[in-house]
Amino acid sequence: MSHSETAFQRCLNPNCGAQYSVSEVLTRCSACGDLLDVAYDWDRVPVPRSLREFESRWSHRLDPLALSGVWRFRELLPFAPDEQIVTIGEGQTLLRGSPMIADYCGLPASGLWLQYEGLNPSGSFKDNGMTAASTHARMTGARKAACASTGNTSASLAIYGGTTGLFGVVVFVGSGKISYGKLSQALDYGAQTVQIAGDFDDAMRQVQAVCQRAGIYLCNSLNPFRLEGQKTIVYRVLESLGWNVPDWIVVPGGNLGNSSAFGKALLELKELGLIDRLPRLAIINAGGADTLYQLYQHRGLRWNGGHVDRSLIADHYATLDRTGQRAHTLATAIQISRPVNLVKALRALDACDGVVRSVSDQEILDAKAQVGRGGFGCEPASAASVAGARLLRREGVIAPSDRVVCILTAHQLKDPTATVAYHSGVGREELERHDVRAHPFANQPVAAANDLEQILAVVAGPRG
Ligand code: F0G
Repeated sequence: MSHSETAFQRCLNPNCGAQYSVSEVLTRCSACGDLLDVAYDWDRVPVPRSLREFESRWSHRLDPLALSGVWRFRELLPFAPDEQIVTIGEGQTLLRGSPMIADYCGLPASGLWLQYEGLNPSGSFKDNGMTAASTHARMTGARKAACASTGNTSASLAIYGGTTGLFGVVVFVGSGKISYGKLSQALDYGAQTVQIAGDFDDAMRQVQAVCQRAGIYLCNSLNPFRLEGQKTIVYRVLESLGWNVPDWIVVPGGNLGNSSAFGKALLELKELGLIDRLPRLAIINAGGADTLYQLYQHRGLRWNGGHVDRSLIADHYATLDRTGQRAHTLATAIQISRPVNLVKALRALDACDGVVRSVSDQEILDAKAQVGRGGFGCEPASAASVAGARLLRREGVIAPSDRVVCILTAHQLKDPTATVAYHSGVGREELERHDVRAHPFANQPVAAANDLEQILAVVAGPRG
């Protein structure tokens, strides 16, 4: 059975449900303009009877498809023939228990795990999705690929284009809106980097028009193939927990691709009888970029069987336009006001009895400092998950006995400016502009003269 017979694209709107072949390049339903899913005729796909069957892949690490933390689960995203798969070794990531962060969140030492997606080749979870989008780009003969980005998607697309040489890459970023760590990656990996005089929401709008007009392959999370790859983050979390389902998965919310992919992954596993219950999903917005929180928590926006009240979304966007409000957070990766996967994320929240919360930049940077102290570290947006878990525990929504997994979406070195400002004071004006005025977990560097005795005195001091 070929993949093109068992995999297809389908409009997520139940009033439409239009279907398209996987050989078509689409980012929205041609009939109604809604988002698309990649869907499978599971009855005709050879799916393992138990998740444990995937463990046999561990002994085949010389096979790139078994090494990849995405493609070793390829029976659960079966849209591509093996020979078309594009992989650069993504998904070698870790789940680690963290007694220190558990304590910070008010949980017992064994109650919290961190999923370090920063260990991917480009330093963020995006590589899980980009390997899948790159595969589809190759299947459809794309010569050029593009994305808009707050920095990590562009770094990821650039590394796939650069490493494989399969397609040219053009990335669109808001001028001055992305950290140097991420900008440097796009430049270094050879992507044409277009700095738009605007923010991510502007860049996202432009890239869609550019791709349509110029026939370029779009790699943002509107692309349903990208989200197929991001499903594997959930598979690896389950794998690291011995295939046990945690009580909570907590994830930062930006463009809402990850949360949408997690919901789809979990629903499919349940449907296939590979897990017997779903974890709850918590999506955490940054306070200055909290469209989902406002609509879900305050306006009662819900999936409602696919019959989403889109007038609530349109009203919210009209208000943002009228008042000139733009997204504003130090967690620049999630500085997004118009998340393209909003409706898909509502479906995930519905499936996983989800909750949405918003946390301040102060809470994010404090949580980030704790994550850094306790392990591999992360960038600001990632720490929203930990700040969110802490808030939900304080509210009693997360119970003391719950087993909680926080997704750390990207590497600590992605955004050193915020980290150095928090710890050392250099550049603190920028933190103050975002109301970050306290630094309870700062690890101040110590000045010392270039003199051995004085240095020894410093080292023998209270922190020595
Ligand atoms: N964390 C990090 C580090 C990110 O880079 C992003 C998104 C998110 C969380 C939010 O994930 O969009 O799936 O809800 N970054 C995108 C980018 C928008 O362009 O790199 P999401």
